[in-house]
Amino acid sequence: MSNIRFDGQVVIVTGAGGGLGRSHALEFARRGAKVVVNDLGGTLDGSGGSSAAADAVVAEIIAAGGEAIADGASVTDDKGVAALIKRTMDKWGRIDVLVANAGILRDKSFAKMELSDFSVVVDVHLMGAVKPIKALWEIMRAQNYGRIVVTTSSTGLYGNFGQANYGAAKLSLVGLMNTLKIEGAKNNIHVNAISPVAATRMTDALMPPEMLAKLAPEHVTPGVVYLASQEAPNGAILTAGAGVFALAQIVETEGAYLGAGAQAEAVRDQWAQITDPAGAEAYPAGAGQTQKFLRKSGF
Ligand code: NAI
Repeated sequence: MSNIRFDGQVVIVTGAGGGLGRSHALEFARRGAKVVVNDLGGTLDGSGGSSAAADAVVAEIIAAGGEAIADGASVTDDKGVAALIKRTMDKWGRIDVLVANAGILRDKSFAKMELSDFSVVVDVHLMGAVKPIKALWEIMRAQNYGRIVVTTSSTGLYGNFGQANYGAAKLSLVGLMNTLKIEGAKNNIHVNAISPVAATRMTDALMPPEMLAKLAPEHVTPGVVYLASQEAPNGAILTAGAGVFALAQIVETEGAYLGAGAQAEAVRDQWAQITDPAGAEAYPAGAGQTQKFLRKSGF
């Protein structure tokens, strides 16, 4: 099989001034892409900022013989995002790939969390993906080509103490993907999600050093590169870390038909059958669930 290459393609990676985004940006450039390295260069909780982090990654790419430009916009800033897309189009005339990777943390137990801790995290992760995607959606449609990778998290998929805001924000990206994968398909726009585990400043405080040593961001990047390639699937949630890759799926059990007049007691009494994992399915679209309901109820 041929190597995965991005020659002639333009790739935007948000939050690429450090951690996972930096690793993704370097690898896209090594595989021939022209790369836009976006990062507002703030602290882990999202405050502060300068384009120095993005500049440093661009310098690394150029030193290695690649092509890149830096962008210091916040992904939540409408004008900054519009300028990012315009600069990219002015310079290179197309946008093939967006990796929506920028993110922040405001960890606290839900009891102690302020609503502002919640809304700022949702804003950066969800709207910080929606805004660039919206700004380049028509460009990808007109090109009849696009690959978008959003960055979800095990916290969104499964939960983690102290991260109600982050988990809600991260799983919202899967919801976004699930509809965009359908709407983009006819224009060859594929939308996938990566669920990484990597030693970055985001995880430094969460794991002991020997564990962090196994989890270099470079072990996640091959998954992102594949999800952004011409051969990419559409609508996959790829989990990746420490050299392990797996598919996460939202599945629904076959369930039980309890009759049109079923009461709460019937749900209680049939719980084992309702939750029996045999025959569980991941539906390609929401209608799959409705069709099952109608089929099982004898429609
Ligand atoms: P990181 O903190 O090293 O990288 C995040 C980058 O996003 C930073 O460079 C930061 O300056 C930038 N950023 C933050 N807000 C921004 C904004 N408004 N506009 C532009 N850039 C902004 O952390 P890491 O670990 O590399 O995280 C990358 C992504 O992976 C995040 O979306 C994170 O939620 C996700 N993730 C990371 C995991 C891990 O194990 N490290 C686990 C699951 C998800």
